[in-house]
Amino acid sequence: MKTVAVIGTQWGDEGKGKIVDLLAQDADVVVRFQGGNNAAHTLVVDGATFILRLVPAGALYPSKVCVIGPGMVVDPVALLQEIDELQRKANFRANGRLKLSYDAHMVMPYHRAIDRAREARLGKQAIGTTGFGIGPAYEDKVARCGLRFSELADFPSFERKLRRNLLEKNRYLKLVLKAKPVAVGGLIEQMREVRRRLLPHLCDTAGYLADARERGQRVLFEGAHGTMLDIDYGTYPFVTSSTCVSSAVFTGGGLPCGALDAVLGIAKAYTTRVGAGPFPTEIKTRLADQLRAKGAEYGSATHRPRRVGWFDAVLTRRAMRLNGASILALTKLDVLTGIDPVKICVAYTVKGARKTDVPYSMMRLDQVQPVYEELPGWQEALSDKRELSQLPRNARRYLERLCELSGAKLVMVGVGASREQIIVLENPFLS
Ligand code: IMP
Ligand code: MG
Repeated sequence: MKTVAVIGTQWGDEGKGKIVDLLAQDADVVVRFQGGNNAAHTLVVDGATFILRLVPAGALYPSKVCVIGPGMVVDPVALLQEIDELQRKANFRANGRLKLSYDAHMVMPYHRAIDRAREARLGKQAIGTTGFGIGPAYEDKVARCGLRFSELADFPSFERKLRRNLLEKNRYLKLVLKAKPVAVGGLIEQMREVRRRLLPHLCDTAGYLADARERGQRVLFEGAHGTMLDIDYGTYPFVTSSTCVSSAVFTGGGLPCGALDAVLGIAKAYTTRVGAGPFPTEIKTRLADQLRAKGAEYGSATHRPRRVGWFDAVLTRRAMRLNGASILALTKLDVLTGIDPVKICVAYTVKGARKTDVPYSMMRLDQVQPVYEELPGWQEALSDKRELSQLPRNARRYLERLCELSGAKLVMVGVGASREQIIVLENPFLS
């Protein structure tokens, strides 16, 4: 197969980074196509930990091309910092290998200021955003006042638009949100530096990908966040501001419709969520603290503790269908060792009626009661297992049941944080 997309089926943090990093070995090009640095992929390679926020996971291999597609919103200063850090820690050479779409939008300091001021004003009703300005940047894109990377080429014109935006946003910050305005002083100089360093990376990424595919190269699309955070299909308004389902590969990545060969869904062996919003299988007992500690469930972007819950097969099944995904990688199975019994949510009860589908509105998820099936747990550590047959019987039974309920074919099982701690049953690039 030549084009594969990796998509999160839960609320993000499913361990996509690790799976993308593994598949990147067999790809030529790795593409991010939605979101911004609200995503954070944690990778452990040779004992060193890397957190990638904007640069696709292919960065850790010397020869892969990394593409940032037009569907992304990119904080240019954060991107430069990430490039520098990757260069320092992993000898990453961005020249020729990092392609940034002319049409990607820039996240500006006023976007971050607006995001944070709005959240502060919402108080208890806050979405729990990362505060990185993602929503306000997408708003400007749709309102047609956003700044795209292509505009850096004509700096005087870019500066005029930036000053115009700043004037308007500062009035909004001061008068409506009662927040501090953003200073223009250092910003223009900073953008000159951004121009100097990023202009060489600008690229017609859709054209580049079309050429790459004609050359027979393999392209890997790296999804960010998760299906339940999708702007249309997630638990709105407790969602992120981009399309997170696989169709974003076409709009945000520039792949023509029909050219995607496989969609690999990723799910954690249990569920987590950062930020507010409905979460039917959330665990509210001390078991949540135990799982959080064992699974290191703290946001990689914001370090917030993640909410923790049981595996929700109703939502995973919906996500697999929405994404057109038939194959599933399940991560962090090792974290469930020692938990007995383990539970899977197989249905919901809504006003006394049993449903195996989500209610008509995802927001109604806060009114459903999960129906659990309990399975016997296992005590053995899994981190050195590399074959499905080496797993304890109860762990295999858990996997089988979970896949049966989710309508998925299991192709990978994660048993630890590092690159090699994974059982691969099928590699979508090689099948
Ligand atoms: P925003 O994307 O910063 O606007 O945040 C909106 C919601 O999406 C918040 O609940 C965030 O915690 C959540 N979110 C955004 N990106 C991620 C991610 O990569 N993993 C998990 N949650 C995320
Ligand atoms: Mg993450």
